[in-house]
Amino acid sequence: MTAQTRTHQPSSVSAPDLVVAQPRSLPQDFVLGVATAAYQIEGARHEDGRTDSIWDTFAHTPGAVVAGDTGDVACDHYHRYAADVQLMRSLGMQSYRFSTSWDRVCPDGGPVNAKGLDFYERLVDSLLGAGIAPWLTLYHWDLPQALEDRGGWTSRETVDRFVEYALAMHDRLGDRVRTWTTLNEPFCSAFLGYTAGMHAPGRTSPADGLAAAHHLLLAHGRVVQELRARDASLELGLTLNFTVADPLDPSDPRDVDAARRIDAQMNRIFLDPIFRGEYPADLLDDVRHLGLEDHILDGDLDVISTPVDVLGVNYYNGEAIGHEPPAASLSDSVNGGRFTRSPFPAADDAYRHPRGLPVTAMDWEIQPDGLTRLLVRLQRDYAGPAGVALHVTENGAAFDDAPDEEGFVDDRDRTAYVRAHLGAILDAIEAGVPVRGYFYWSLMDNFEWAWGYAKRFGLVRVDYATQVRTPKASALDYARIIATRQLPAPSADASGRVAADRGPGGAGPAAQLQA
Ligand code: FCB
Repeated sequence: MTAQTRTHQPSSVSAPDLVVAQPRSLPQDFVLGVATAAYQIEGARHEDGRTDSIWDTFAHTPGAVVAGDTGDVACDHYHRYAADVQLMRSLGMQSYRFSTSWDRVCPDGGPVNAKGLDFYERLVDSLLGAGIAPWLTLYHWDLPQALEDRGGWTSRETVDRFVEYALAMHDRLGDRVRTWTTLNEPFCSAFLGYTAGMHAPGRTSPADGLAAAHHLLLAHGRVVQELRARDASLELGLTLNFTVADPLDPSDPRDVDAARRIDAQMNRIFLDPIFRGEYPADLLDDVRHLGLEDHILDGDLDVISTPVDVLGVNYYNGEAIGHEPPAASLSDSVNGGRFTRSPFPAADDAYRHPRGLPVTAMDWEIQPDGLTRLLVRLQRDYAGPAGVALHVTENGAAFDDAPDEEGFVDDRDRTAYVRAHLGAILDAIEAGVPVRGYFYWSLMDNFEWAWGYAKRFGLVRVDYATQVRTPKASALDYARIIATRQLPAPSADASGRVAADRGPGGAGPAAQLQA
């Protein structure tokens, strides 16, 4: 029996497993939006003074990115930002999370380039004009290559350069942007970039990853201090990406310990310094041979634990962790001819095990209940005691979209994914976690890092040959959720309706926006 047919049962039926599938209301002040990042959408590689970031260099390295794709053009958002803002307006987006490019604003990590600031000023003014609240991220992985050449995030000097860049952004936009987050996913910057070799700059050193993690945290803390001193009314914070590491066999202490290490090296390595002013003791034990403590100078942890207002939560999936390898391991591998290794500096004996859950095109398990558990834990252990507001700043799915002849994608899988994860957030809210908002990743298909254009996460399809944007069924469903503030029951077969009526208002945005 499906949950849908259960809704037709008489209300007197109260079997314990009976789930009555009904629409759920979203809190009126819960903010719904979409997210992107500069390198993934902007293009305009060398325009108006922009110089190369580590991602330009990496993408142009043979074998680093699937199919040799680069962000040289991407979604051409640098030239099409005004239309993209109108697209968001037509879908009813309340907020837009984007990142600014350090290389546009401070080319080579040096003096300020006014033309770079001009672009973000145009973007922010368009957003405000469209009634969309800007949520600005200063660093979404695009370190100036010139700074990497001097040591990158393994060097303390990079922290000073980051502060200069942040202050230049604030000088221009501090009067218009309320929410400023420093970093997106320092785990990926540090450990995919400096330890796993999977992301720019492509280093494969556990010690470098740890040094980078510490300097990223320090850069975050310094910028929060400086911006707070300039304007106490700003909303300041950062975005972390989390896993929910479940021991494969909770009764096996070796699996429990493997899961503990993944949790320490992905989640607590950032949470504890920020919220508690200390690295977790078990993490320090695990990485003692890798030199992290050599980089921690007196006063650093005070800076890092400067109070924040918001914590951005990026959640895609959790994982079952065992101490023995399954078929696919987290350990060393050779990727497109390049050597890559596990991103975890000291967990070479921890392995991810498939649990038989459905997966996305990234092979990531679809596990919305992990998001509920994560939010409850973050609130209980970190955000709640600190009085920090939680926002889900990324969540989304790549699927193998099949457009029709008009470019329309009837992506019921993505629609169901979004609904299920919004439902998981409502579950957390009902459990007492005051989650304030949700940003779907991503507004539109874009350059998915080492996967290039092969993986599509967008609510809006991008035809890269023509740059035509076409909202998918999931975009129209999300627009309807925003407009009605009602989350349909997961089982409701709205996808057929979505495909048929194509939008909240008859012809809907799909038709208008292809032009
Ligand atoms: C996150 C990144 C984002 C995007 C999604 C799929 O880790 O922050 O840029 O690539 O994954």
